[in-house]
Amino acid sequence: MAENGDRKWLHDLLRPMKGSFREVFLISFFVNMLALAVPVFVLQIYDRVVFHAGISTLQGLVIGMVLVLIFDYVLRNSRARILQTVALRVDVQTGRILFNRVMSLPLRALESKPAPYWQALFRDVEVVRNTVSGSSAILLCDLPFVFLFLGVIFLIAEPIAWVLALVFPLFILVAWRSGNVLNSAAQKERETAMNRDDLIGGIINGRTTIKALALDRAMRPMWEEKHADNIENSVQRGGKADSFTALGQTLTLVTTVSLTTVGALAIINQEITIGALIATNMLSGRLLGPLNQLVNTWKIYAGFRQSVQRLSDVFNAEVERQESEVALDKPKGELTLENIIFSYNPEGAPIINDIKLGIKSGSLTALVGKNGSGKTTLIKLILGLYKPNSGRVLLDGADMTQFTRSELAGWIGYVPQDCVVFAGSVRENITHGSPDAPDNEVIRAAKSAGVHDFIIDMPDGYATEIGEAGQRLSGGQRQRIAIARALVGHPPVILMDEPSGSLDRQAEEELKRTLMELAKQHTVIIVTHSPILLQACDNLVALDKGRVALAGPTKDVLPRLFGRAAPPPSSATPAPPSTPSTGASAPAVPAAPATPKPTQSQAPQRQPQAGQKPAAPPQKQPQPQPSRPGAPAVPPAKPVGTPAAQPAQAQPTSSPGPQPKPTAPQATKPQTGQAAPKAPTPPQTRRPQS
Ligand SMILES: Nc1ncnc2c1ncn2[C@@H]1O[C@H](COP(=O)(O)OP(=O)(O)OP(=O)(O)O)[C@@H](O)[C@H]1O
Ligand SMILES: [Mg+2]
Repeated sequence: MAENGDRKWLHDLLRPMKGSFREVFLISFFVNMLALAVPVFVLQIYDRVVFHAGISTLQGLVIGMVLVLIFDYVLRNSRARILQTVALRVDVQTGRILFNRVMSLPLRALESKPAPYWQALFRDVEVVRNTVSGSSAILLCDLPFVFLFLGVIFLIAEPIAWVLALVFPLFILVAWRSGNVLNSAAQKERETAMNRDDLIGGIINGRTTIKALALDRAMRPMWEEKHADNIENSVQRGGKADSFTALGQTLTLVTTVSLTTVGALAIINQEITIGALIATNMLSGRLLGPLNQLVNTWKIYAGFRQSVQRLSDVFNAEVERQESEVALDKPKGELTLENIIFSYNPEGAPIINDIKLGIKSGSLTALVGKNGSGKTTLIKLILGLYKPNSGRVLLDGADMTQFTRSELAGWIGYVPQDCVVFAGSVRENITHGSPDAPDNEVIRAAKSAGVHDFIIDMPDGYATEIGEAGQRLSGGQRQRIAIARALVGHPPVILMDEPSGSLDRQAEEELKRTLMELAKQHTVIIVTHSPILLQACDNLVALDKGRVALAGPTKDVLPRLFGRAAPPPSSATPAPPSTPSTGASAPAVPAAPATPKPTQSQAPQRQPQAGQKPAAPPQKQPQPQPSRPGAPAVPPAKPVGTPAAQPAQAQPTSSPGPQPKPTAPQATKPQTGQAAPKAPTPPQTRRPQS
């Protein structure tokens, strides 16, 4: 359970509403006072009007009662209205605080819990709202008056009051027990519901795959198991709740029978009048009602406590920096990675292991490596999304941890590996990061990403709605929009994780030109295995199991990467000043990629399939590039060893292979990325000699 200090947010939330709660309590006081009027009226009718034929008394009593009932109606209405205002404020404020809080949590914290957990938190806000402003709040106000009614009953009919005084603790006991039992049952039901929702969420997100592969047959047993689990827990919780409700009602009936019996005996003994018995019966209803309600409401309080606990956990969790002490100017974009070590699991092996790199502004750096070698993780570390276990990332010499997330997002453009876009217009998707971006900036970014022509070709242009998760767009169009999004606002650092995974060859060529242009003034890092993009890179960093295996000018590193013999670690790229500088302890890169070597007759023409990326970048020599003003001067590459055989990536221009170099984008690379050649067949002379 949270300490009181942990629930400070709740106190802060409710403190300004104290006035409203006071009003509600005051109104409840009057409502309960007026409730006394009915039994008193009945008592007077029996004792004075009926036996003494007191018509004028009756008239007076009826007029009085009409006024009381009108007043009671007005009071109850105003109480409901005040509580509605309280509900609205709780909803708005807690919802807003929760949203801000969740958005401020570090990415690792968000990844540590499944999606339904975060969704359920917003339902917890509803629980808090309903508890502090619903029937349970009214019950809380009414409960103290139970003692008032008991006191009045003591005055009118003492023998009956003793019966009620005896059952009172019994009700409390049943309510308390029901809260405890139902609490754990509700917790289990919630967990099973979350498991089921998690599965449903996954199925809905992957509905295309599910339909295409008819995975529903495989999913059905999983769904049925989780659904049955949830139903079982739900039934168990419902059964327990029903038994406590029934117990409360039985207790109420037993009390009514007991007090009527005791009342009858008291009348026979002439201790009380019949009127007193009837009035007491009515008053006991006002007393037993809240007590009976308490049995049901106690579990609401228990659920409320759980919801408050979960919200407190989020509100007290460590968040990312929200404000910078001093607003620094936009950086130039020079990046330094100082001995970065990072693991997802504190006990697990490091995923990023002692990486030292220096990347100058005005350069284009490629990050390559096998699947799972840690490229995306490293990009996220550079973005500041993950905090290294040890080591630092410096931006223009400043430790990145001092910057806020929004500052970093403004300075670092990012194209994620999975290009997520959101429902909304094309323009909104491009400007999500900078909503105030002027139109010419949006158009510039779209043109740079090669998506402008496609956008204006649509009837609604930039206002075109792209549908849920951009499903009305093709994969390549989504990717280009994600690239445009990263370019808005001229961020000095641009990180792109496989930006050409869904692009056709023409788009890739365009992207290459864009990157070369951008790299004149920006720090551009791309994770790629595309020969076209690799050609454009000044520097190349090869990761292997989270370590820098090789780094340096692309022309030097590419031949080494695919050389027959791996270079000794000590020779790992004595980088020139403007090339990525690495630690000297970098291990040798694996000499051969994981992909099987093709035979000559299997002249490798195929793009690697999804999930079958080459273990390392292409074997071909990079084409000489037109030197760019900002590009670092790199010595000509010296081939080290003989290039090992690689499928797919060959030197396009020098290849005598039979495949013509297609130009039409659609013809060159189908979106499936499987069969069409990206590069012509490598010449035989480039086949491995080993
Ligand atoms: N959120 C996560 N939680 C736990 N482990 C993770 C998480 N994300 C990645 N990993 C692990 O970290 C390692 C590196 O993953 P990463 O995504 O950085 O590889 P990558 O080099 O980008 O691979 P790919 O070329 O397939 O994109 C993998 O072994 C992966 O299983
Ligand atoms: Mg990756």
